[in-house]
Amino acid sequence: IDRAALIAKLPKAELHLHIEGSFEPELMMQIAERNGIQTAFKTLEEAKAAYAFSNLQEFLDIYYQGMAVLLHKQDFYDLTWAYLERAAADNVRHVEIFFDPQAHTERGVAFATVADGILEALADGETKLGITSHVIMSFLRHLSEEDGFALLEESKSYHARFIGVGLDSSEIGHPPSKFARLFAKCRELGFKLCLHAGEEGPPQYVQEALIDIGADRIDHGNRSMEDEGLIQVLRDTQTPLTNCPLSNLSLCVIDDLKQSPLKAQLEAGLLVTVNSDDPAYFGGYVNQNYQAIADALDLSNDQLIQLARNSFTAAFMSEADKAKHL
Ligand code: HPA
Ligand code: ZN
Repeated sequence: IDRAALIAKLPKAELHLHIEGSFEPELMMQIAERNGIQTAFKTLEEAKAAYAFSNLQEFLDIYYQGMAVLLHKQDFYDLTWAYLERAAADNVRHVEIFFDPQAHTERGVAFATVADGILEALADGETKLGITSHVIMSFLRHLSEEDGFALLEESKSYHARFIGVGLDSSEIGHPPSKFARLFAKCRELGFKLCLHAGEEGPPQYVQEALIDIGADRIDHGNRSMEDEGLIQVLRDTQTPLTNCPLSNLSLCVIDDLKQSPLKAQLEAGLLVTVNSDDPAYFGGYVNQNYQAIADALDLSNDQLIQLARNSFTAAFMSEADKAKHL
């Protein structure tokens, strides 16, 4: 079986996906028009031309600008539904998606508007496409810990519908330790903890996320590979890493996919997975990420099968549900 056919055929879970990062410019323009607002870019060509980043912050500036056309529940529904259709086409059977409520509530959009639109689309995704899902509510790390506590309070009536909490946005200068009390509270409330760490930030940030905060998953985690002690802990605890190859390339975390740590992580016995992060901005959904990284690192079919298995092992599903896919 050839590589592309194998990738297409493998059942997969996607564990690192920001729903606002799946906002394709075509849909963005359609929603902007019906909401009577201007997009930052007038044409598709202009939008795509702006999607050339040299670091995380350059991307984030465009990402927050893009999502500003989302106002109504239907907008969040349409955004989520469009992603689910893409995921189904890639034979993704389970998704655990991040959303960034503070990026919407800051603009005056009610928390319930955002959450209801996303949750209704995910419910339809299960009945109509057979895709199971969980939601992870992310805190923006460029904001304060106090802002995070305010979100936690504001979202109270939805807590039972979220499997976990996340930490994303501008990494450097905003270490996990800035949110130590917030994550301790979230742990107490029963949330899984998923923290972006070691994308641009140093191994010290992974250390804080993994050891001090006790993260259940590390998002990205590339720079863990600079610290032998961290590698050992990741191996011993089998804490998952959600790697995002095309994201790493687009944000210049690596200059070439051949520099990706993914193969070394597999060979070191780490529980690494392949994900798309913000597919509308980084040039591909999950199968394109599998294909690109397999080509660059010359992964074997067995390694591709291992990566797909890892995606279910690393998911927050019951053992019984995992067994259906493994
Ligand atoms: N890193 C940090 N914050 C983000 C990302 C990312 O890759 N995508 C969306 N928000
Ligand atoms: Zn991310």
